[in-house]
Amino acid sequence: MIYKHIHFSMKLYIVVVILSMLQLSSGDTEEDYWPVHTACNSDKIQVIYRSCDPIQDVGFTLSSCSDIMTQPYVKVSFLLRQSIDELYLSLGLFHNGVFIVHYDEPLCLKNFPRFTFCGNRRGEMVTIQMFVPGLEHPLKGHYNFKVHCINQNGFQIGCVNATAIFH
Ligand SMILES: *[C@@H]1O[C@H](CO)[C@@H](O)[C@H](O)[C@H]1NC(C)=O
Repeated sequence: MIYKHIHFSMKLYIVVVILSMLQLSSGDTEEDYWPVHTACNSDKIQVIYRSCDPIQDVGFTLSSCSDIMTQPYVKVSFLLRQSIDELYLSLGLFHNGVFIVHYDEPLCLKNFPRFTFCGNRRGEMVTIQMFVPGLEHPLKGHYNFKVHCINQNGFQIGCVNATAIFH
């Protein structure tokens, strides 16, 4: 199994990921299918993202743009094209173009549904709202997240490439 190496202890990064659901591992060419959206544009932070899934776009919002440091929540929405009895997330994080870290994390396992959306079927809309840690620290520069999720069949459920620019 290719998921043997998944880290169970990296909850913190799952969360960041899902800030992500800011995206990873799409071929670069796939990224041109969808427009770049702006999730936030304030004097402190700018967040842009793009779906890297050739079939569907993704919705990504922040709880507050100007006040993201004190209300660090993000919400990601997408439509399911297959069920997610199992859901595996993969995250890559880059800072100013330099690779920082990569994590794989199971969000849903057959007998271990960690989230309410685990087990949702094709055609259902999934909205994930998550706390983003780390924003209380002063951040500088470009943070690029590449996040993608696959299900029990290895089918890509969602893919996001997001960049947060801290001024
Ligand atoms: C997507 O990823 C590339 C790096 O692979 C980055 O240069 C680009 O700015 C990203 N796009 C968005 C919208 O974050």
